[in-house]
Amino acid sequence: MGRKKSLKLAEVDYLPNVFSYSLGNIEERLLKYLAKDRPFVLELGCGRGDYSIKLAERNPEKNFVGVDIRGARIWNGSKKAEELRLKNVAFVISRAEFLTEIFKKIKFEEIWIPFPDPFPKKRSTNRRLIAPGFLERYSKITLPGAKIHLKTDDEGLYNYALEVLTEKNVEIINNYHNLYANDNLNFEESIKTKYEEQHLKEGKTIKLISFKLR
Ligand SMILES: C[S@@+](CC[C@H](N)C(=O)[O-])C[C@H]1O[C@@H](n2cnc3c(N)ncnc32)[C@H](O)[C@@H]1O
Repeated sequence: MGRKKSLKLAEVDYLPNVFSYSLGNIEERLLKYLAKDRPFVLELGCGRGDYSIKLAERNPEKNFVGVDIRGARIWNGSKKAEELRLKNVAFVISRAEFLTEIFKKIKFEEIWIPFPDPFPKKRSTNRRLIAPGFLERYSKITLPGAKIHLKTDDEGLYNYALEVLTEKNVEIINNYHNLYANDNLNFEESIKTKYEEQHLKEGKTIKLISFKLR
């Protein structure tokens, strides 16, 4: 591991807006840090938290929580949020597999899943953040009518998501196979994460599916 990364990992658990699964009581600690009475929005596989930060700047009346397993990436998001003095963003270092263990009281009104790892091998299907097991978890930690958005550059993951969502009979609100071929996108749809910037540079098309579970 590089020196920079190990310094970030040594510091990340002590940052005021970062809550690590390994230290327990995440939800209680989060509810002390964020204003309880605001709507909550979740970003999964948040990396550096690009969605949470841009949405938090735009929507000071809402709370944003970014979840990722990689502490060094979250370190970057935490520092950026601090630099921008954003008090409505927090980060959780955890696997998304533990969402229902962490969030018992908080119910999210929206979930963003930007550029999750596609896990192309068949044996890893269940690890895809849009697999049925994850949709089950999302239904337990969201409000009725919550919106979920999946952004990807990966054709295989996009097709898989459509299969799963059709099978689950969810309400698809928007389905863009080539997002930027549209010129009437809203602010949220057009936020570009670090991975998205890279994919765009490589000439890839970006896909977005927005849906409601119920
Ligand atoms: C391709 S990166 C995208 C990062 C960021 N969303 C972006 O667009 O720049 C995928 C991220 O998902 C995280 N991730 C993968 N599996 C996860 C899981 N089960 N729970 C939480 N995070 C996960 C990885 O650590 C990584 O940061």
